[in-house]
Amino acid sequence: MQWTIYTEEEYPTPEDDILDLIASALGADWTTKSSHQLRLGNEQYKNLSLVAFLDGKLVGTVRLWPIQAGNAGDALLLGPLAIHPPLQGKGLGRAMLYKVIELAKAAGHGAIVLVGDAPYYERVGFSSNPTWFMRMPGRYDQNRLLGYELQEGYLTGKDGVITR
Ligand SMILES: CC(C)(COP(=O)(O)OP(=O)(O)OC[C@H]1O[C@@H](n2cnc3c(N)ncnc32)[C@H](O)[C@@H]1OP(=O)(O)O)[C@@H](O)C(=O)NCCC(=O)NCCS
Repeated sequence: MQWTIYTEEEYPTPEDDILDLIASALGADWTTKSSHQLRLGNEQYKNLSLVAFLDGKLVGTVRLWPIQAGNAGDALLLGPLAIHPPLQGKGLGRAMLYKVIELAKAAGHGAIVLVGDAPYYERVGFSSNPTWFMRMPGRYDQNRLLGYELQEGYLTGKDGVITR
């Protein structure tokens, strides 16, 4: 598939297009998730958040947000990651995750956290181990709170609450 992936900084994309794509992939209730509270009133890093296009159509989005990861301090929250339903399962989600990781590492960030399906995100290196002693506000499943250390040991052994 010849999709092209840009940062939101490189390719400013109408907010409504991104929100429509997220709703079409995740369902209209996606804003009820605990992780959404960390995004309200927050602003995504446009140099790390990605949009993917195929034949001029927006087909993928992933956003990275500044958060505090307990006593580890500054970190990134990833989400939502959403792929246009007809294009799911063709490797675009994975390609966007690898690019996000590469960009965040190059920008000197310490870690990425997210709430999501472990079997999917473990394939690109996320794990519940580094975030096991951290807590999120609201209701969530601890097994779905996952971290990726961009700097070795950045989250390991740390605890506390994940906040904005
Ligand atoms: C989940 C999502 C982001 C994955 O992106 P994608 O481009 O479709 O996935 P990829 O092509 O990178 O990876 C496909 C592989 O991941 C697997 N996979 C997809 N979603 C999965 C999930 N929720 N849990 C476990 N594995 C999953 C597929 O079975 C496939 O496996 P295979 O390579 O062995 O065939 C995308 O499908 C999507 O937007 N889904 C709707 C929203 C959603 O379910 N979000 C929940 C994620 S926490």
